[in-house]
Amino acid sequence: MSSASVDTPSQPDSTTSKSSPTIPPQPLVPLRDRLLYSNKARTQGAGTGEDRDLTKDVKSRRKIVWGMVFGFIGAMTLASVKFFFPRVLFEPKTRFGIGFPGDFAMGVDTRYQAAFRIWVVRDAQGIFVLFAKCTHLGCTPDWKETDNKFKCPCHGSGFDMEGVNFEGPAPRPLDRTMVELDASGEIIVDKAVLFPYEQWGDPRARVNV
Ligand code: FES
Repeated sequence: MSSASVDTPSQPDSTTSKSSPTIPPQPLVPLRDRLLYSNKARTQGAGTGEDRDLTKDVKSRRKIVWGMVFGFIGAMTLASVKFFFPRVLFEPKTRFGIGFPGDFAMGVDTRYQAAFRIWVVRDAQGIFVLFAKCTHLGCTPDWKETDNKFKCPCHGSGFDMEGVNFEGPAPRPLDRTMVELDASGEIIVDKAVLFPYEQWGDPRARVNV
């Protein structure tokens, strides 16, 4: 009998097969590549939890960047619009109609004080208009019907119905405004033209009606 050995199939080494494979060290991957891989994984429906976190991170950063871009564009647009529509101070009209002479009884009419800061006064000669601004420091006096005078609430100056100062610190009488009748007979007041006491005799400071 030959002594040649018969090759028998070698039995797997159970010790070797059960040992876990050695994991080679992973190279350091730059963040940009990781993000790219993350996007790719997202589009292909794959990826680890870390990838998904990175994708969320990218999305939120994109939102912030786009928000800043749109904010900047919006601010620039607003500035451009404001440039073409500069701030304008709309002041009340200085020339306006107040009605017809028959609308005013003898005495002081205060119905235009709030809107135009004037009083309309009718006396025996006609109608004139007082500018309701105290000649001391510019407050608006009140008409005191019972006392028949204008009384300034700020420092107590008093003016008679004609507008002449007689008490308090006001240094001079009230101003009168230009007043005239238009073609229809309506009284037109022009506050852009004021007459101090020395010019009350000007024909434009009264309408004789
Ligand atoms: S502002 Fe009228 S009394 Fe001073």
